[in-house]
Amino acid sequence: MSPPLVRLRGVYKRFGPVVALDGADFELAAGEIHGLLGENGAGKTTLMNVLAGLYRADAGDLEVLGRPVSIREPRDAVQLGVGMVHQHFELVGHFTALENVILGREGSAWLRPDRLRREVEALMERVGLAVPLDRRVRDLPVGVQQKVEILKALYRGARVLILDEPTTLLTPQEVDALLASLRTLVEAGVSVVFITHKLHEVLRSCDRVTVMRRGRRVVTVDRREADPVRLVEWMVGTAPPPPPAREATRPGSPVLELEAVRVVDERGVAVLDGCSLVVREGELVGVAGVSGNGQQALAAVVAGTARPAAGVLRIRGRPAERHGVLDRMRAGVLTIPEDRLRDGILPRMSVAENVVLGRHRLYFPGVRYDPETSRRLARHAIEEFRIVCPGPDAAAGQLSGGNLQRLIAARVFDAAREREARLLVAHNPTRGLDVPSTEFLHARLVEFCAKGGAVLLISEDLDELLKLADRIGVLYRGRVVAEFAREQFDRYAIGRAMTGGVPA
Ligand SMILES: Nc1ncnc2c1ncn2[C@@H]1O[C@H](COP(=O)(O)OP(=O)(O)OP(=O)(O)O)[C@@H](O)[C@H]1O
Ligand SMILES: [Mg+2]
Repeated sequence: MSPPLVRLRGVYKRFGPVVALDGADFELAAGEIHGLLGENGAGKTTLMNVLAGLYRADAGDLEVLGRPVSIREPRDAVQLGVGMVHQHFELVGHFTALENVILGREGSAWLRPDRLRREVEALMERVGLAVPLDRRVRDLPVGVQQKVEILKALYRGARVLILDEPTTLLTPQEVDALLASLRTLVEAGVSVVFITHKLHEVLRSCDRVTVMRRGRRVVTVDRREADPVRLVEWMVGTAPPPPPAREATRPGSPVLELEAVRVVDERGVAVLDGCSLVVREGELVGVAGVSGNGQQALAAVVAGTARPAAGVLRIRGRPAERHGVLDRMRAGVLTIPEDRLRDGILPRMSVAENVVLGRHRLYFPGVRYDPETSRRLARHAIEEFRIVCPGPDAAAGQLSGGNLQRLIAARVFDAAREREARLLVAHNPTRGLDVPSTEFLHARLVEFCAKGGAVLLISEDLDELLKLADRIGVLYRGRVVAEFAREQFDRYAIGRAMTGGVPA
């Protein structure tokens, strides 16, 4: 049997006290799409960053086609034909697609620009990925930006393409297109590592799957030997929790009402424009949409951090256009913010301090902060939400993205228990969360509704909305352009509305 294209053996990597990789193994065969699964913090990104030369392993061996190699820096990886596309693209927004693809390779000034363009065009032809080369990247939809990133890696000669959670921000149509183009890439001689939390994507598009847990490989199997239950068992070591049962809702009176709300941002652009939406007691209303269509403004205007320039906004029947964040909190509004490090967490403060953030007055009447109570609450949160961290005193900024989100969720649901919370606004609450954490959070949202709370779930993850929502409104260019009741749910019809098409 020929040796694998890439083999990583016994890779160790620590970050201070955190053991990210604990003797991890991984093999990539030539010409395959290899899914890489695992809970938050399992070490997927770290392992691939080692392969891409972004991190140096503390120990471990690397072979390419059976020959030992060493990767000390990204340049070594590029020379070996390894390219990685990170979840947060590293494109230059005001450059064109072409400029981004050739960035850093344009070097030899004597090369005529049209020659580079022809090279890139030939590449697009060969791998079946077409992008408008002269458009500025920031004007392109996320799915197209991602193609630019992939082309950039391939233009640098990648034969091994690593995609870290590439489908998170895409519409269903874009996911289909991406998965189809991966096949074409494989036919063109590229091998792919595909990191994702979405089991159905793995089962649909991968040839083999590796599951990691706590910095090690649990198993590598053929897709035919994998099914959702076994995959989750490998990931977490136990059977998956049952999906939350959604009882038929009897929506009560409106908790949140928006009528023709307009919000203008600091540049004077109307980011919400004629946005209307109602959420009733006991109802979970989903807002679907491609990122950048007013989601942030919608979350902000409901949370009270942005004021409407026009329109009506009522909370529990009362006009609330002029109310700020504190009034909202008093009215029983809770938020799970999207931007964890900007709106949710103080990275330099400890986990314990972050757990009580915004709740001081509840626990510590007067101004005194009681570290012991915070630690106790933090230990409870760490256990209940399975936050992977060294302990209550660890700086929050050291937690992985998924664990930060668990910390915020712990805080929000604790607050919901204590207060008369009536409305929960969650913006991409499970982005980057693994299967068990996502299930856990979903169960909490459903529970909140079952007790009569209203949930506004703004999510770019359509699967999440289809699973949980009673109704889905599609946000496009600052307004809700279509609404679908549960019995009308159709992912492609919703996907069309998300890109401005008329719902069928
Ligand atoms: N630069 C870093 N500094 C400190 N700790 C880190 C760093 N990068 C990763 N870690 C830690 O290493 C562990 C593995 O993280 P990694 O990002 O590889 O997980 P993952 O499997 O990609 O998780 P996710 O699904 O959340 O992306 C986590 O506990 C994380 O907190
Ligand atoms: Mg990761």
